[in-house]
Amino acid sequence: MNLERQKKRPLPIMRNIIIVGFMGTGKTTLAKALAKKLGRTYVSIDDEIEKRSGVVISDIFKNKGEAYFRKLEREIIEIVSEKNDQVIDTGGGAVLDKENMVNFKKNGVVICLWSPPGVIFERTKKSIHRPLLNVEDPENEIKKLSQARRPFYEKADFHIDTADFDINAIIKKISKIIK
Ligand code: S3P
Repeated sequence: MNLERQKKRPLPIMRNIIIVGFMGTGKTTLAKALAKKLGRTYVSIDDEIEKRSGVVISDIFKNKGEAYFRKLEREIIEIVSEKNDQVIDTGGGAVLDKENMVNFKKNGVVICLWSPPGVIFERTKKSIHRPLLNVEDPENEIKKLSQARRPFYEKADFHIDTADFDINAIIKKISKIIK
């Protein structure tokens, strides 16, 4: 085997896979499993925001407000989108900013997970780390927010229903998409 020749052959650059979608659609579980399966780097925008600011997301919302959180989110997305070969796990509101979508699409394929509000409510009702659902009537808030965000999620390149979360089937679908 000619190792010198092998070394010189450039590696193919792989575009990012960006997982978007409403809270509770299974983005994190899927993105981690997908990254493992494809041998890519997993990056969570929310984790990067917490690392960089040293503050958990619920406290960023509480102390500095949503606009400040969105600013951090935009900055991190810009930085992360510069790299390749990643599976990027985004927060549910990342699609709202036009600039974020431009950055995602520049270098990647955007896949949106989708589940009906009733399913989202059941999945998220016990979690305490989602400031936007920490309201008196979270079920109604989920309906309202997911309706308002629909046009933004529609801008993704592909949509996958995750109501009955069959992770292996979803990974297969995405593997076909990126071929
Ligand atoms: C948000 C979703 C959260 C997190 C923040 C805002 C949103 O992420 O980014 O609380 O606006 O939908 P998950 O979608 O991972 O819960």
